[in-house]
Amino acid sequence: MASSPATTPIRSLFAADPDRLSRLRIEQSGMLFDFAKTHLDADRIAAGLAHLTALGFTAARDRLFGGEAVNVTENRPAEHMAERGEGTADSVARANLLHQRTKALVEAVDAGAFGDIRHILHVGIGGSALGPDLLIDSLGRDAGRYEVAVVSNVDGAALAQVFARFDPRHTLLVLASKTFTTSETLLNGTSVIEWMEDAGVEDPYGRIIAVTAVPEAALAWGIDETRILPFSMTVGGRYSLWSSIGLPAALALGWPAFEELLAGAAIMDRHFRDAPLDRNAPVIAAIADRFYVEQMACQTRAVFAYDERLRLLPSYLQQLEMESNGKSVTLEGKPLDTASAPITWGGVGTDCQHAVFQLLHQGTVKTPIEFVAVIAPGHDLDEAHHRQLLINCFAQGSALMTGRSSDDPARAYAGDKPSTTILLDALDPATLGALIAFYEHRTFVNAVWLNVNPFDQFGVELGKEMARAIEHNGTQGFDPSTAALAARAFG
Ligand code: F6P
Repeated sequence: MASSPATTPIRSLFAADPDRLSRLRIEQSGMLFDFAKTHLDADRIAAGLAHLTALGFTAARDRLFGGEAVNVTENRPAEHMAERGEGTADSVARANLLHQRTKALVEAVDAGAFGDIRHILHVGIGGSALGPDLLIDSLGRDAGRYEVAVVSNVDGAALAQVFARFDPRHTLLVLASKTFTTSETLLNGTSVIEWMEDAGVEDPYGRIIAVTAVPEAALAWGIDETRILPFSMTVGGRYSLWSSIGLPAALALGWPAFEELLAGAAIMDRHFRDAPLDRNAPVIAAIADRFYVEQMACQTRAVFAYDERLRLLPSYLQQLEMESNGKSVTLEGKPLDTASAPITWGGVGTDCQHAVFQLLHQGTVKTPIEFVAVIAPGHDLDEAHHRQLLINCFAQGSALMTGRSSDDPARAYAGDKPSTTILLDALDPATLGALIAFYEHRTFVNAVWLNVNPFDQFGVELGKEMARAIEHNGTQGFDPSTAALAARAFG
Protein backbone atom coordinates (compact mmCIF):
# COMPACT_ATOMS: atom_id res chain seq x y z
CA MET A 1 0.00 0.00 0.00
CA ALA A 2 1.57 3.26 -1.08
CA SER A 3 0.63 5.66 1.70
CA SER A 4 2.70 7.28 4.40
CA PRO A 5 3.44 5.55 7.71
CA ALA A 6 0.91 6.01 10.46
CA THR A 7 2.30 9.07 12.11
CA THR A 8 -0.91 11.07 12.42
CA PRO A 9 -2.68 10.16 15.66
CA ILE A 10 -6.20 8.86 15.20
CA ARG A 11 -7.63 11.70 17.27
CA SER A 12 -6.22 14.28 14.88
CA LEU A 13 -7.86 12.50 11.97
CA PHE A 14 -11.25 13.51 13.38
CA ALA A 15 -10.22 17.17 13.34
CA ALA A 16 -8.76 16.87 9.84
CA ASP A 17 -11.91 15.49 8.25
CA PRO A 18 -15.37 16.72 9.27
CA ASP A 19 -16.88 13.82 7.33
CA ARG A 20 -14.82 11.22 9.15
CA LEU A 21 -17.75 9.59 10.94
CA SER A 22 -19.88 9.20 7.85
CA ARG A 23 -16.88 8.10 5.80
CA LEU A 24 -15.73 5.49 8.27
CA ARG A 25 -19.01 4.04 9.49
CA ILE A 26 -20.97 1.56 7.42
CA GLU A 27 -24.50 0.38 8.23
CA GLN A 28 -25.29 -3.05 6.88
CA SER A 29 -27.53 -5.99 7.85
CA GLY A 30 -28.56 -4.61 11.22
CA MET A 31 -24.96 -3.82 12.15
CA LEU A 32 -22.90 -0.69 12.42
CA PHE A 33 -19.27 -1.14 11.40
CA ASP A 34 -17.33 1.71 12.95
CA PHE A 35 -13.79 2.10 11.61
CA ALA A 36 -13.45 5.69 12.86
CA LYS A 37 -11.08 4.75 15.69
CA THR A 38 -8.53 3.27 13.27
CA HIS A 39 -5.75 5.05 11.38
CA LEU A 40 -7.75 4.77 8.16
CA ASP A 41 -8.58 8.04 6.46
CA ALA A 42 -9.69 8.98 2.95
CA ASP A 43 -6.12 8.76 1.61
CA ARG A 44 -5.36 5.42 3.17
CA ILE A 45 -8.63 3.96 1.96
CA ALA A 46 -7.94 5.29 -1.53
CA ALA A 47 -4.42 3.83 -1.43
CA GLY A 48 -5.79 0.47 -0.23
CA LEU A 49 -8.41 0.43 -2.96
CA ALA A 50 -5.86 1.35 -5.60
CA HIS A 51 -3.67 -1.51 -4.39
CA LEU A 52 -6.59 -3.96 -4.53
CA THR A 53 -7.48 -2.71 -8.00
CA ALA A 54 -3.92 -3.22 -9.17
CA LEU A 55 -4.10 -6.76 -7.81
CA GLY A 56 -7.23 -7.46 -9.85
CA PHE A 57 -9.51 -7.69 -6.82
CA THR A 58 -12.87 -7.41 -8.57
CA ALA A 59 -11.91 -10.11 -11.09
CA ALA A 60 -10.84 -12.36 -8.20
CA ARG A 61 -14.17 -11.73 -6.47
CA ASP A 62 -16.00 -12.52 -9.74
CA ARG A 63 -14.11 -15.81 -9.94
CA LEU A 64 -15.24 -16.69 -6.42
CA PHE A 65 -18.89 -15.86 -7.12
CA GLY A 66 -18.67 -17.44 -10.57
CA GLY A 67 -17.71 -20.86 -9.24
CA GLU A 68 -14.24 -20.93 -10.78
CA ALA A 69 -11.56 -23.14 -9.26
CA VAL A 70 -10.25 -20.49 -6.85
CA ASN A 71 -8.88 -23.22 -4.60
CA VAL A 72 -6.02 -23.72 -6.99
CA THR A 73 -3.98 -26.24 -5.00
CA GLU A 74 -6.96 -28.57 -4.81
CA ASN A 75 -8.34 -27.51 -8.16
CA ARG A 76 -11.90 -26.79 -7.09
CA PRO A 77 -14.21 -23.84 -6.49
CA ALA A 78 -15.12 -22.52 -3.04
CA GLU A 79 -18.89 -22.86 -3.01
CA HIS A 80 -19.92 -22.07 0.56
CA MET A 81 -22.00 -19.16 -0.74
CA ALA A 82 -24.11 -21.57 -2.80
CA GLU A 83 -25.42 -22.85 0.56
CA ARG A 84 -27.11 -19.49 0.99
CA GLY A 85 -28.27 -19.14 -2.59
CA GLU A 86 -25.36 -17.18 -4.09
CA GLY A 87 -23.31 -18.88 -6.80
CA THR A 88 -23.77 -20.73 -10.05
CA ALA A 89 -27.25 -22.11 -10.75
CA ASP A 90 -25.81 -25.60 -10.56
CA SER A 91 -24.11 -25.21 -7.20
CA VAL A 92 -27.16 -23.50 -5.70
CA ALA A 93 -29.45 -26.29 -6.95
CA ARG A 94 -27.15 -28.93 -5.44
CA ALA A 95 -26.99 -27.08 -2.12
CA ASN A 96 -30.79 -26.69 -2.06
CA LEU A 97 -31.27 -30.39 -2.58
CA LEU A 98 -28.94 -31.21 0.31
CA HIS A 99 -30.68 -28.65 2.52
CA GLN A 100 -33.98 -30.37 1.82
CA ARG A 101 -32.46 -33.60 3.15
CA THR A 102 -31.18 -31.83 6.25
CA LYS A 103 -34.57 -30.26 6.81
CA ALA A 104 -36.27 -33.63 6.40
CA LEU A 105 -33.94 -35.16 8.96
CA VAL A 106 -34.66 -32.39 11.46
CA GLU A 107 -38.36 -33.04 10.94
CA ALA A 108 -37.83 -36.79 11.31
CA VAL A 109 -36.00 -36.33 14.62
CA ASP A 110 -38.75 -33.95 15.77
CA ALA A 111 -41.38 -36.48 14.78
CA GLY A 112 -39.74 -39.21 16.86
CA ALA A 113 -38.31 -41.30 14.03
CA PHE A 114 -35.20 -41.86 16.14
CA GLY A 115 -37.14 -42.55 19.33
CA ASP A 116 -37.47 -40.23 22.26
CA ILE A 117 -34.51 -37.95 21.54
CA ARG A 118 -33.71 -35.32 24.14
CA HIS A 119 -29.98 -34.83 23.69
CA ILE A 120 -27.94 -34.21 20.56
CA LEU A 121 -24.27 -35.09 20.82
CA HIS A 122 -22.36 -33.52 17.94
CA VAL A 123 -18.89 -34.95 17.44
CA GLY A 124 -16.52 -33.21 15.03
CA ILE A 125 -13.46 -31.00 15.14
CA GLY A 126 -12.18 -27.77 13.56
CA GLY A 127 -14.60 -26.63 10.89
CA SER A 128 -16.82 -29.58 11.69
CA ALA A 129 -17.38 -28.25 15.20
CA LEU A 130 -16.52 -24.57 15.66
CA GLY A 131 -19.29 -23.20 13.44
CA PRO A 132 -22.16 -25.29 14.84
CA ASP A 133 -20.86 -24.65 18.35
CA LEU A 134 -20.86 -20.88 17.77
CA LEU A 135 -24.40 -20.95 16.36
CA ILE A 136 -25.81 -23.06 19.18
CA ASP A 137 -24.05 -21.13 21.91
CA SER A 138 -25.05 -17.76 20.45
CA LEU A 139 -28.64 -18.46 19.50
CA GLY A 140 -29.74 -21.67 21.13
CA ARG A 141 -29.67 -20.87 24.80
CA ASP A 142 -33.41 -20.40 25.15
CA ALA A 143 -34.52 -22.38 22.13
CA GLY A 144 -36.02 -25.06 24.39
CA ARG A 145 -35.75 -27.82 21.80
CA TYR A 146 -32.89 -30.28 22.37
CA GLU A 147 -29.98 -30.14 24.72
CA VAL A 148 -26.98 -30.09 22.41
CA ALA A 149 -23.32 -30.69 23.23
CA VAL A 150 -20.45 -30.32 20.79
CA VAL A 151 -17.41 -32.47 21.50
CA SER A 152 -14.23 -32.05 19.53
CA ASN A 153 -11.22 -32.91 21.66
CA VAL A 154 -9.92 -36.46 21.63
CA ASP A 155 -9.17 -35.98 25.32
CA GLY A 156 -11.63 -38.42 26.91
CA ALA A 157 -12.42 -35.81 29.54
CA ALA A 158 -14.43 -33.91 26.94
CA LEU A 159 -16.73 -36.85 26.22
CA ALA A 160 -16.83 -37.95 29.86
CA GLN A 161 -18.35 -34.61 30.83
CA VAL A 162 -21.17 -35.11 28.36
CA PHE A 163 -21.69 -38.76 29.33
CA ALA A 164 -22.19 -37.56 32.90
CA ARG A 165 -25.17 -35.41 31.97
CA PHE A 166 -26.71 -37.06 28.86
CA ASP A 167 -28.83 -40.21 28.90
CA PRO A 168 -27.55 -42.63 26.21
CA ARG A 169 -31.08 -43.94 25.68
CA HIS A 170 -32.24 -40.48 24.63
CA THR A 171 -29.18 -39.30 22.71
CA LEU A 172 -28.69 -38.85 18.98
CA LEU A 173 -25.09 -38.79 17.74
CA VAL A 174 -24.19 -36.47 14.88
CA LEU A 175 -20.82 -37.57 13.59
CA ALA A 176 -19.43 -34.77 11.46
CA SER A 177 -16.28 -34.96 9.39
CA LYS A 178 -15.81 -33.59 5.91
CA THR A 179 -13.21 -36.24 5.08
CA PHE A 180 -14.49 -38.89 7.49
CA THR A 181 -10.86 -39.74 8.23
CA THR A 182 -10.14 -37.45 11.18
CA SER A 183 -8.82 -39.74 13.89
CA GLU A 184 -10.08 -37.71 16.87
CA THR A 185 -13.64 -37.67 15.52
CA LEU A 186 -13.71 -41.35 14.64
CA LEU A 187 -12.32 -42.38 18.03
CA ASN A 188 -14.82 -40.17 19.83
CA GLY A 189 -17.60 -41.64 17.66
CA THR A 190 -16.53 -45.17 18.58
CA SER A 191 -16.58 -44.29 22.28
CA VAL A 192 -20.09 -42.85 21.98
CA ILE A 193 -21.27 -46.09 20.38
CA GLU A 194 -19.69 -48.10 23.21
CA TRP A 195 -21.38 -45.83 25.75
CA MET A 196 -24.73 -46.47 24.09
CA GLU A 197 -24.09 -50.23 23.90
CA ASP A 198 -23.13 -50.34 27.57
CA ALA A 199 -26.45 -48.70 28.39
CA GLY A 200 -28.31 -51.38 26.44
CA VAL A 201 -29.26 -49.22 23.47
CA GLU A 202 -30.30 -51.56 20.68
CA ASP A 203 -28.71 -50.67 17.35
CA PRO A 204 -26.61 -47.64 18.33
CA TYR A 205 -25.64 -47.25 14.67
CA GLY A 206 -29.27 -46.44 14.01
CA ARG A 207 -28.82 -43.47 16.34
CA ILE A 208 -26.06 -41.88 14.32
CA ILE A 209 -26.37 -39.28 11.62
CA ALA A 210 -23.15 -38.85 9.67
CA VAL A 211 -22.39 -35.53 8.01
CA THR A 212 -19.63 -35.70 5.45
CA ALA A 213 -18.42 -34.85 1.96
CA VAL A 214 -17.27 -38.46 1.54
CA PRO A 215 -20.46 -40.51 2.08
CA GLU A 216 -18.77 -43.75 0.99
CA ALA A 217 -16.39 -43.46 3.97
CA ALA A 218 -19.32 -43.11 6.38
CA LEU A 219 -21.00 -46.07 4.69
CA ALA A 220 -17.85 -48.15 5.14
CA TRP A 221 -17.84 -47.09 8.81
CA GLY A 222 -21.20 -48.81 9.23
CA ILE A 223 -23.69 -45.98 8.88
CA ASP A 224 -26.75 -46.60 6.74
CA GLU A 225 -27.00 -44.35 3.70
CA THR A 226 -30.40 -43.04 4.80
CA ARG A 227 -28.65 -41.48 7.77
CA ILE A 228 -25.74 -39.97 5.88
CA LEU A 229 -26.09 -36.28 5.10
CA PRO A 230 -23.61 -35.32 2.42
CA PHE A 231 -22.27 -31.92 1.62
CA SER A 232 -20.18 -30.79 -1.29
CA MET A 233 -16.41 -31.26 -1.40
CA THR A 234 -16.30 -27.69 -2.73
CA VAL A 235 -17.43 -26.33 0.66
CA GLY A 236 -14.34 -25.85 2.81
CA GLY A 237 -14.39 -27.18 6.38
CA ARG A 238 -14.11 -23.76 8.03
CA TYR A 239 -16.76 -22.38 5.64
CA SER A 240 -19.17 -25.26 6.16
CA LEU A 241 -21.56 -24.26 8.94
CA TRP A 242 -24.10 -23.30 6.27
CA SER A 243 -24.19 -26.82 4.89
CA SER A 244 -25.42 -30.02 6.54
CA ILE A 245 -22.56 -29.49 9.02
CA GLY A 246 -25.06 -27.05 10.55
CA LEU A 247 -27.43 -29.91 11.36
CA PRO A 248 -27.01 -29.72 15.16
CA ALA A 249 -27.70 -25.99 14.98
CA ALA A 250 -30.80 -26.65 12.87
CA LEU A 251 -31.88 -29.23 15.46
CA ALA A 252 -31.21 -26.86 18.33
CA LEU A 253 -32.80 -23.78 16.78
CA GLY A 254 -35.38 -25.27 14.44
CA TRP A 255 -35.26 -25.20 10.65
CA PRO A 256 -36.88 -21.76 10.17
CA ALA A 257 -34.12 -20.14 12.26
CA PHE A 258 -31.50 -21.95 10.20
CA GLU A 259 -33.06 -20.57 7.03
CA GLU A 260 -32.98 -17.06 8.50
CA LEU A 261 -29.29 -17.53 9.17
CA LEU A 262 -28.69 -18.44 5.53
CA ALA A 263 -30.81 -15.52 4.31
CA GLY A 264 -28.89 -13.09 6.52
CA ALA A 265 -25.59 -14.35 5.15
CA ALA A 266 -26.89 -13.98 1.58
CA ILE A 267 -27.63 -10.31 2.19
CA MET A 268 -24.02 -9.81 3.26
CA ASP A 269 -22.89 -11.72 0.15
CA ARG A 270 -24.76 -9.27 -2.02
CA HIS A 271 -23.35 -6.32 -0.10
CA PHE A 272 -19.84 -7.70 -0.67
CA ARG A 273 -20.53 -8.27 -4.36
CA ASP A 274 -22.44 -5.05 -5.16
CA ALA A 275 -21.58 -2.25 -2.74
CA PRO A 276 -19.08 0.37 -3.92
CA LEU A 277 -15.67 -0.64 -2.62
CA ASP A 278 -15.29 2.43 -0.40
CA ARG A 279 -18.61 1.54 1.32
CA ASN A 280 -17.99 -2.19 1.38
CA ALA A 281 -17.59 -3.43 4.97
CA PRO A 282 -15.42 -6.52 4.30
CA VAL A 283 -13.20 -4.52 1.94
CA ILE A 284 -12.64 -1.63 4.35
CA ALA A 285 -12.00 -4.06 7.22
CA ALA A 286 -9.41 -5.89 5.15
CA ILE A 287 -7.67 -2.64 4.15
CA ALA A 288 -7.34 -1.85 7.86
CA ASP A 289 -6.10 -5.40 8.53
CA ARG A 290 -3.33 -5.12 5.96
CA PHE A 291 -2.45 -1.57 7.02
CA TYR A 292 -1.77 -2.73 10.57
CA VAL A 293 0.22 -5.77 9.47
CA GLU A 294 2.29 -4.11 6.78
CA GLN A 295 2.75 -0.57 8.02
CA MET A 296 2.51 -0.94 11.79
CA ALA A 297 4.13 -4.40 11.95
CA CYS A 298 1.27 -5.79 14.05
CA GLN A 299 1.58 -9.53 14.44
CA THR A 300 -1.73 -10.07 16.20
CA ARG A 301 -5.28 -8.83 16.04
CA ALA A 302 -7.60 -9.10 19.01
CA VAL A 303 -11.38 -9.62 18.97
CA PHE A 304 -13.39 -8.98 22.11
CA ALA A 305 -17.04 -9.96 22.20
CA TYR A 306 -18.89 -7.73 24.63
CA ASP A 307 -21.67 -10.28 24.85
CA GLU A 308 -21.58 -13.68 26.51
CA ARG A 309 -23.58 -15.13 23.63
CA LEU A 310 -20.66 -14.43 21.31
CA ARG A 311 -17.97 -15.84 23.57
CA LEU A 312 -17.04 -18.49 20.99
CA LEU A 313 -16.59 -15.93 18.20
CA PRO A 314 -12.82 -15.48 18.78
CA SER A 315 -12.20 -19.25 18.56
CA TYR A 316 -14.30 -19.47 15.42
CA LEU A 317 -12.39 -16.58 13.85
CA GLN A 318 -9.06 -18.11 14.79
CA GLN A 319 -9.70 -21.02 12.47
CA LEU A 320 -11.32 -18.92 9.76
CA GLU A 321 -8.54 -16.35 9.60
CA MET A 322 -5.44 -18.29 10.62
CA GLU A 323 -6.15 -21.50 8.72
CA SER A 324 -7.17 -19.49 5.65
CA ASN A 325 -4.40 -16.91 5.48
CA GLY A 326 -1.61 -18.30 7.64
CA LYS A 327 0.35 -19.09 4.48
CA SER A 328 3.84 -18.36 3.23
CA VAL A 329 3.54 -19.11 -0.47
CA THR A 330 1.63 -17.25 -3.15
CA LEU A 331 -0.88 -18.69 -5.59
CA GLU A 332 2.07 -19.21 -7.92
CA GLY A 333 3.98 -21.15 -5.24
CA LYS A 334 6.49 -18.34 -4.67
CA PRO A 335 7.58 -17.16 -1.18
CA LEU A 336 5.33 -14.45 0.21
CA ASP A 337 7.14 -11.11 0.29
CA THR A 338 5.00 -9.67 3.08
CA ALA A 339 3.75 -10.81 6.49
CA SER A 340 0.92 -13.35 6.37
CA ALA A 341 -2.27 -13.10 8.42
CA PRO A 342 -1.60 -12.01 11.98
CA ILE A 343 -2.51 -14.16 14.97
CA THR A 344 -6.18 -13.79 15.84
CA TRP A 345 -6.92 -13.96 19.54
CA GLY A 346 -9.40 -12.49 21.98
CA GLY A 347 -12.05 -13.19 24.56
CA VAL A 348 -15.10 -11.63 26.16
CA GLY A 349 -15.62 -8.27 27.72
CA THR A 350 -15.70 -7.22 30.40
CA ASP A 351 -13.67 -10.22 31.64
CA CYS A 352 -10.66 -9.45 29.46
CA GLN A 353 -10.46 -5.89 30.75
CA HIS A 354 -9.42 -7.32 34.09
CA ALA A 355 -6.85 -9.67 32.62
CA VAL A 356 -5.19 -8.68 29.35
CA PHE A 357 -6.11 -5.05 28.75
CA GLN A 358 -3.14 -3.84 30.81
CA LEU A 359 -0.87 -4.83 27.94
CA LEU A 360 -3.19 -3.35 25.35
CA HIS A 361 -3.16 0.03 27.12
CA GLN A 362 0.46 0.20 28.22
CA GLY A 363 2.46 -2.64 26.66
CA THR A 364 4.84 -2.11 23.76
CA VAL A 365 3.15 -4.69 21.53
CA LYS A 366 0.84 -3.12 18.97
CA THR A 367 -2.39 -4.87 18.10
CA PRO A 368 -5.54 -3.61 16.42
CA ILE A 369 -8.59 -4.45 18.46
CA GLU A 370 -12.11 -5.32 17.43
CA PHE A 371 -15.08 -4.88 19.72
CA VAL A 372 -18.27 -6.76 18.89
CA ALA A 373 -21.33 -5.76 20.91
CA VAL A 374 -25.11 -6.10 20.70
CA ILE A 375 -27.59 -3.35 21.59
CA ALA A 376 -30.42 -5.69 22.62
CA PRO A 377 -29.51 -7.79 25.66
CA GLY A 378 -29.80 -11.56 25.67
CA HIS A 379 -31.37 -11.82 29.12
CA ASP A 380 -34.15 -10.43 31.28
CA LEU A 381 -32.03 -9.21 34.16
CA ASP A 382 -31.99 -5.62 35.25
CA GLU A 383 -31.00 -3.35 32.37
CA ALA A 384 -28.10 -2.07 34.48
CA HIS A 385 -26.15 -5.17 33.41
CA HIS A 386 -26.35 -4.53 29.73
CA ARG A 387 -25.88 -0.80 30.09
CA GLN A 388 -22.71 -1.33 32.07
CA LEU A 389 -21.48 -3.90 29.55
CA LEU A 390 -21.92 -1.54 26.60
CA ILE A 391 -20.57 1.47 28.48
CA ASN A 392 -17.42 -0.51 29.25
CA CYS A 393 -17.05 -1.51 25.62
CA PHE A 394 -17.33 2.07 24.37
CA ALA A 395 -15.11 3.43 27.16
CA GLN A 396 -12.32 0.97 26.36
CA GLY A 397 -12.27 1.96 22.70
CA SER A 398 -12.11 5.61 23.68
CA ALA A 399 -9.43 5.10 26.34
CA LEU A 400 -7.25 3.11 23.97
CA MET A 401 -7.43 5.85 21.36
CA THR A 402 -7.32 8.91 23.60
CA GLY A 403 -4.77 7.85 26.20
CA ARG A 404 -3.82 10.18 29.04
CA SER A 405 -0.65 11.95 29.95
CA SER A 406 0.70 11.93 33.49
CA ASP A 407 3.76 13.19 35.35
CA ASP A 408 4.09 9.65 36.62
CA PRO A 409 5.21 7.49 33.67
CA ALA A 410 3.68 4.39 35.26
CA ARG A 411 0.30 6.07 35.14
CA ALA A 412 0.56 7.47 31.62
CA TYR A 413 -1.34 6.03 28.66
CA ALA A 414 0.20 6.62 25.26
CA GLY A 415 -3.13 6.26 23.47
CA ASP A 416 -3.48 6.09 19.70
CA LYS A 417 -4.33 2.38 19.94
CA PRO A 418 -6.70 1.50 17.11
CA SER A 419 -10.00 -0.29 17.44
CA THR A 420 -12.96 -1.19 15.27
CA THR A 421 -16.42 -1.59 16.74
CA ILE A 422 -19.13 -3.78 15.25
CA LEU A 423 -22.40 -2.94 16.92
CA LEU A 424 -25.30 -5.30 16.25
CA ASP A 425 -28.86 -4.09 16.79
CA ALA A 426 -29.84 -7.57 17.96
CA LEU A 427 -28.37 -11.04 17.94
CA ASP A 428 -30.79 -13.00 15.79
CA PRO A 429 -30.08 -15.72 13.20
CA ALA A 430 -30.11 -13.32 10.24
CA THR A 431 -27.70 -10.87 11.86
CA LEU A 432 -25.35 -13.61 13.01
CA GLY A 433 -25.40 -15.10 9.52
CA ALA A 434 -24.47 -11.71 8.08
CA LEU A 435 -21.74 -11.20 10.66
CA ILE A 436 -20.10 -14.55 9.91
CA ALA A 437 -20.38 -13.94 6.16
CA PHE A 438 -18.75 -10.53 6.70
CA TYR A 439 -15.78 -12.28 8.33
CA GLU A 440 -15.57 -14.82 5.50
CA HIS A 441 -15.44 -12.08 2.88
CA ARG A 442 -12.95 -10.01 4.85
CA THR A 443 -10.74 -13.11 4.97
CA PHE A 444 -11.10 -13.47 1.20
CA VAL A 445 -10.09 -9.83 0.57
CA ASN A 446 -7.04 -10.35 2.78
CA ALA A 447 -6.19 -13.44 0.73
CA VAL A 448 -6.44 -11.52 -2.55
CA TRP A 449 -4.15 -8.86 -1.09
CA LEU A 450 -1.67 -11.52 0.00
CA ASN A 451 -2.10 -13.48 -3.23
CA VAL A 452 -2.57 -16.71 -1.24
CA ASN A 453 -5.12 -19.50 -1.44
CA PRO A 454 -7.46 -19.11 1.57
CA PHE A 455 -9.18 -22.42 0.87
CA ASP A 456 -6.48 -25.02 1.54
CA GLN A 457 -4.69 -25.94 4.80
CA PHE A 458 -1.69 -28.11 4.10
CA GLY A 459 0.03 -26.69 7.18
CA VAL A 460 -1.98 -29.03 9.39
CA GLU A 461 -0.86 -32.23 7.67
CA LEU A 462 2.70 -32.77 8.87
CA GLY A 463 1.79 -33.01 12.56
CA LYS A 464 -1.03 -35.44 11.75
CA GLU A 465 1.34 -37.65 9.76
CA MET A 466 3.91 -37.67 12.53
CA ALA A 467 1.27 -38.60 15.11
CA ARG A 468 0.24 -41.51 12.90
CA ALA A 469 3.89 -42.56 12.57
CA ILE A 470 4.35 -42.63 16.36
CA GLU A 471 1.06 -44.49 16.76
CA HIS A 472 2.12 -47.21 14.34
CA ASN A 473 5.92 -47.36 14.61
CA GLY A 474 6.91 -45.59 17.82
CA THR A 475 9.41 -42.78 17.89
CA GLN A 476 12.24 -44.51 16.07
CA GLY A 477 13.86 -41.91 13.83
CA PHE A 478 12.31 -39.04 15.81
CA ASP A 479 14.36 -36.39 17.55
CA PRO A 480 15.70 -37.25 21.04
CA SER A 481 13.41 -34.81 22.86
CA THR A 482 10.24 -36.28 21.34
CA ALA A 483 11.47 -39.85 21.81
CA ALA A 484 12.21 -39.19 25.49
CA LEU A 485 8.80 -37.58 26.09
CA ALA A 486 7.02 -40.56 24.56
CA ALA A 487 9.21 -43.00 26.51
CA ARG A 488 8.36 -41.24 29.76
CA ALA A 489 4.61 -41.22 29.00
CA PHE A 490 4.21 -44.69 27.55
CA GLY A 491 7.19 -46.54 29.05
O1 F6P B 1 -6.72 -30.49 10.56
C1 F6P B 1 -7.41 -29.38 10.06
C2 F6P B 1 -8.73 -29.78 9.47
O2 F6P B 1 -8.52 -30.45 8.27
C3 F6P B 1 -9.63 -28.58 9.28
O3 F6P B 1 -9.37 -27.88 8.13
C4 F6P B 1 -10.97 -29.21 9.33
O4 F6P B 1 -11.98 -28.27 9.55
C5 F6P B 1 -10.77 -30.17 10.47
O5 F6P B 1 -9.45 -30.64 10.32
C6 F6P B 1 -11.71 -31.33 10.53
O6 F6P B 1 -11.66 -32.07 9.35
P1 F6P B 1 -12.82 -33.06 9.00
O7 F6P B 1 -14.06 -32.29 8.90
O8 F6P B 1 -12.42 -33.69 7.70
O9 F6P B 1 -12.91 -34.09 10.10
